[in-house]
Amino acid sequence: MCGIVGITSSKEVTPRIISSLKKLEYRGYDSAGLATLSNGNINEVKCEGRVDALEKNIIQTKISGSIGIGHVRWATHGKPSSINAHPHSSEDVSVVHNGIIENSTILKKLLENKGYKFKSQTDTEVIVHLVTDYLKKNNLKNTIIKVLKKLHGSFALGIIFKDQPDLIVGARRGSPLAVGYGPNEHYLGSDSYALKSMTNKISYLNDGEFCILKKDQVEFFDADGTKVNKKILNLSKDDQNYEKGDYKYYMAKEIDEQPITLKNCVNEYIDKHNKEINIYNFPWKINEISSVILIGCGTAYHSCLVAKYWFEQNTSLDVRVDIASEFRYRKIKFKKDCLYVFVSQSGETADTFAALDLCKKNNVKTCAVVNVVESSIARDADLVLPIHCGPEVGVASTKAFLGQMLVLYLLCTKLSYEQKSINKKDYQKKIKDLLSLSKSAKNTLNIEDKIQTLGKDFANSKGSMFLGRGYSYPIALEGALKLKELAYVHAEGYPAGEMKHGPLALIEEGMPVVVIAPRDEHYKKTISNMQEVISRGAKVLLITNKSTDEIYSENIWEQIEVDAISDELIPFLTTIPLQKLAYYSALDKGYDIDKPRNLAKSVTVE
Ligand code: AGP
Repeated sequence: MCGIVGITSSKEVTPRIISSLKKLEYRGYDSAGLATLSNGNINEVKCEGRVDALEKNIIQTKISGSIGIGHVRWATHGKPSSINAHPHSSEDVSVVHNGIIENSTILKKLLENKGYKFKSQTDTEVIVHLVTDYLKKNNLKNTIIKVLKKLHGSFALGIIFKDQPDLIVGARRGSPLAVGYGPNEHYLGSDSYALKSMTNKISYLNDGEFCILKKDQVEFFDADGTKVNKKILNLSKDDQNYEKGDYKYYMAKEIDEQPITLKNCVNEYIDKHNKEINIYNFPWKINEISSVILIGCGTAYHSCLVAKYWFEQNTSLDVRVDIASEFRYRKIKFKKDCLYVFVSQSGETADTFAALDLCKKNNVKTCAVVNVVESSIARDADLVLPIHCGPEVGVASTKAFLGQMLVLYLLCTKLSYEQKSINKKDYQKKIKDLLSLSKSAKNTLNIEDKIQTLGKDFANSKGSMFLGRGYSYPIALEGALKLKELAYVHAEGYPAGEMKHGPLALIEEGMPVVVIAPRDEHYKKTISNMQEVISRGAKVLLITNKSTDEIYSENIWEQIEVDAISDELIPFLTTIPLQKLAYYSALDKGYDIDKPRNLAKSVTVE
């Protein structure tokens, strides 16, 4: 979860490296640095903190050059500091790295015994001295081949060399890396975000590959040094200039975009004229699938939890859900008639990608529900179902969560109709409901002023609970996660029916509790759970839907009513107030909402 960028050109590169690093800060932002080649030397500048601090250092040092590499860090080995920031350099070599070198301790000992001196606490520095050491007896290409074989673990690398004034080496295993093509210059980047401001033509390295970039030539090689040809992809133009506009934070924009992104995604999959859901390129016959496993991390996992109820409700498929970092280490009994679905906004989450890789190795059916169609997970799955949300920059996932739920709902509905678990009338009713979902989401966004005042109470609480049953239980988990990751306060999502089995002891006078209770089959039971916490002093924010029925309960602190739509689709609406609640809680605390502490947008390390 660090960001890498490199440029080899006939022109000055430092300002463009800086601006690309700013676009990559969502991947990691505890320290930053860059190195260029000029006047026959490697010039390195790096610092703790954001890219703005690095930019100030560069202006002072007047570093320049027509070839350079840059890095924004999310610390894995060694605390955030300028000494541990990348690049790591010797007199001859400079390296930027994203990933984890698992055998760095052993390699460090071997290199220290050879007389190499280490300056940092990072695993990355072993690469610098390993390359330096192998270069003494090998040409550049063989050095790279041999060094990469020595490394255990994951890496995306950018390397420049004092004695090779016009080239950058890139290498990839487990962490994404892309090459961009420009006019008499070439680029290296952790993902397309790094490169979009410079080009819309990119190629991706696959695991085990490395590349040698010169300003007028790009070569790709496999792990043994055999040349590899690469497709050049064209990035969509609209992704190239995704900016905040009038919003203070990307997250605020992305919350407000949800009616549009839901509409765009519905339009991508629903044929309104024929009232059909199109799952393009579905490679299997419906009778070849008798079970589904939904796999993801964090918010993506929560979308899987919601979808589990839909699959149980509407299909005859056996459905399970798993957290990717658990799934990948289980002793799985892989089944040929099971569809393994991987949900990931970035498509680069290491645990989810590893879980997919495990399934690929066992030759089972795989499907990716992603927002980035050029991502590693998308490229490796048998079937890719994009969520069509456009770039999501805020680290806290919002529009992607609704997009993930929507695509899972579309898949579930299509499968249930194809296997005749629902009839044509129900199928078309679901389609009709989906076509008006965007409008209901827009109505829900108008709760602005009410929720804004509540943020302070949650921001200053020592803890809060989020309760729900059925579809609303995963939404309770998601609401709690949003508050944790944005306002840094403890919040717990819990099945409402479980409170009496222990957590009720947590409830004390004035404790804020969110109860998500739409008027579905669980409504009455959840309202009585709500009474249990109110009678023990909790301040309850009730999230329900509009209805003519009275709510039989007194002393509700605040109440928000979303549109009365089908029970199945209510999770799309009850989520929105929780996103805004977390947003305003963090705003009240004055935190950087797009870049919460300790987090990164794409967790590409284990
Ligand atoms: C959600 O707000 C978090 N940023 C995090 O839980 C995220 O959903 C998780 O890391 C999975 O990311 P992915 O969807 O890109 O795989």
